[in-house]
Amino acid sequence: MSDVSTQLQKLVIASGNAGKVEEFRAYLADLGITLIAKPESIDVEETGTTFIENAHLKASQVAIATNEWAIADDSGLEVFALNGAPGVLSARYAETDSKRIDRVLEELRNSANRDAQFVCAIAIASPDGAIAADAIGICKGEITDTPRGNAGFGYDPIFLVPELQQTFGEVLPAVKATISHRAKALEILHSSLKSLIATHYSV
Ligand code: IMP
Repeated sequence: MSDVSTQLQKLVIASGNAGKVEEFRAYLADLGITLIAKPESIDVEETGTTFIENAHLKASQVAIATNEWAIADDSGLEVFALNGAPGVLSARYAETDSKRIDRVLEELRNSANRDAQFVCAIAIASPDGAIAADAIGICKGEITDTPRGNAGFGYDPIFLVPELQQTFGEVLPAVKATISHRAKALEILHSSLKSLIATHYSV
C-alpha cells in the first residue's frame, strides 16, 4: 500500500472559474477520482512569463495550500504579428472581453499576417508541490477583421478556425470542446493521470 499522503483519490482544480471547473470535470469524469474546486481563499498570482510556468506555479501552490493533489491550467491567445501578444497577459490585455478584442484588432489593423494560436498549459502537482505531469495544447487559427458570433468567451469571436471557416464564437460548444487548446492538453494529460492514479491509489 502506498503512503496515504500521496494517494491520488482527490484532485483539487486550481481555478476560480466555474466554466473551467465544469470543463475539467467533463474531461476527467471517467477517472473515478473526486474532483473539487479550490477554496476561494487561495489565490495564486500569475507571475510567470510563460503559460507552463504559470500552470506549474498554480498547481504547486494550491497543492501545498490544500495538502492535496492539484491540477491547474494557464491559457491565452498568441498573435504572430504581435510577437506573441497578448500571450500570458491575455486576461489582462484590457478591462473587458470586448475591449480586449478591440485592442487586438486595432493593433493588427495594418497587418496582412493574421496567424494566431490559442495555447493551454496544464500541470498536476502532488501534495508536496512537486510537478508530477504537464502538457501543452495548441489550436491554430487566424484573427478575423471583425468579431463574429456570440458563443464561447474571451477572444472566441475573432478566432477563425480555417478548416471550419467559422470563428470559435460561431461554432457549437461541443465542436469547440473537441478541437480546442484545452481539449488537446487534457487529452495528453489524461493518460498521464491514469498512470499516476494506478501508481498512487490504494484502498
Ligand atoms: P487564464 O484564466 O489565466 O488561463 O486566462 C485565460 C485568458 O485567455 C482568458 O481570460 C481569455 O481572455 C483567453 N482565453 C483562453 N482560452 C480561451 C478560449 O478558449 N477562448 C477565448 N479566449 C480564451
